Amino acid sequence: MHALATQLDHQAQLLARLAQARSMTDDLFRRVRSDALYDRPIPERHRIVFYIGHLEAFDWNLIAGHALGLGPADTEFDRLFAFGIDPVGGGLPQDTPSDWPPLAQVESYAHHVQRVLDDLLNGRSRLAVSDWQFPREVILNVAIEHRLMHAETLTYMLHQLNSERKMVPHDYLSFSSHQPGPSAVVRMIDIPQGTATLGIPRGGESFGWDNEFEEHSVSVPAFAIGSHKVTNGEFLRFVSEGGYDDRCFWSDEDWAWIKQHNIAHPHLWFMRQNQWFYRAMFEEVPLPQGWPVYVSHVEASAYARYAGRSLPTEAQFHRAAYGTPEGIERMYPWGDADPDATRGNFDFHRWDPVAVGSYPAGRSAFGLQDSVGNGWEWTSTPFAPHQGFEPSPYYPGYSADFFDGKHFVAKGASPRTAACMLRRSFRNWFQPHYPYIYASFRCVQN
Ligand code: AVJ
Repeated sequence: MHALATQLDHQAQLLARLAQARSMTDDLFRRVRSDALYDRPIPERHRIVFYIGHLEAFDWNLIAGHALGLGPADTEFDRLFAFGIDPVGGGLPQDTPSDWPPLAQVESYAHHVQRVLDDLLNGRSRLAVSDWQFPREVILNVAIEHRLMHAETLTYMLHQLNSERKMVPHDYLSFSSHQPGPSAVVRMIDIPQGTATLGIPRGGESFGWDNEFEEHSVSVPAFAIGSHKVTNGEFLRFVSEGGYDDRCFWSDEDWAWIKQHNIAHPHLWFMRQNQWFYRAMFEEVPLPQGWPVYVSHVEASAYARYAGRSLPTEAQFHRAAYGTPEGIERMYPWGDADPDATRGNFDFHRWDPVAVGSYPAGRSAFGLQDSVGNGWEWTSTPFAPHQGFEPSPYYPGYSADFFDGKHFVAKGASPRTAACMLRRSFRNWFQPHYPYIYASFRCVQN
């Protein structure tokens, strides 16, 4: 009796989380003016309208299709909206707005899918539901986290929309309301040789995506790491000293890329009357010197070379953020307590970064500030499978499509990363030239 009650409770919680994730993404689309829904703010990605269909097509294909073995919701739309794009090698999509169905059709598809899935999940459906082919809990976690990842990646996209094409939310914290933050002095922290545990064990309690399996230990030699993420203020020195024009900080390929695309500063910076400004989510502000700098992997690597250092490996990040001098490893940098708003800038509380070092309660045992939150952190590790990797049968391409040596692992979290994805084993990844994500970095000395 008790066990059954707990299980029902658990199911109800998952459905509540799915509903909450839906209202997150619904709210995001409401930030976009209706005449901008067919815009493509990021040239490498689909038009905004694609994602209105995608979130529902994904859930339908996953839950109704793979898990329950039911037929299509809409043969054409289930397929049209099934997968996003991530072109490697600069090939950009060439479609035009009229290649996409009208908004009313996409929205009615979305509502239809949500309604039928809700009936299925609440046992109200007339459709005969065979047994779940995969654990219901796993499938629901996949739907929830997939949607929450899009809540973040859609935000990168809406960030790129001009201000007249989007609407400021009521709860937006304008720059003038920000605390200046502590004046952080970066120091290099010595991390002694030790072990880092990456991944999670198969068959355990915790949900994980295919790339998080399996758990394994990595022996990490001693190194030193920055106590804080590199800030806009520090990065400004690199820019002012001609870092983007100095061949020696860039690999051949990266140099060709920045010159071909005229990249001479971080993507969200711009110059007006000889002063640096910053494009925050819903306003333009004088460059916030204390905020972590958001840059592509190639820019982070160039800065590290300029500083005579390098980017941490994935294992070094784990060791520094989750390790302790006693050798015990923590679930989170601050310990094993669940994340809350005192531990870092994550879980949608803010749209923008805050000054580094603003969350002393989120400090790691070795003294790293903000290692989870306030911006992902680039690592030097190419995205590749852990030993024992197996693609998930219900979503075989989730990770495997990106094990191409052309994507790098990012760890931690941004202001727009949901709390459920702060678990230690979670891995994010992007192409090294991709400048749109909320990713910062810190340097190591080996
Ligand atoms: C894990 C954030 C790299 O956005 O490309 C969403 C997540 N995959 N739908 C991405 C994802 C398919 C993925 N990242």
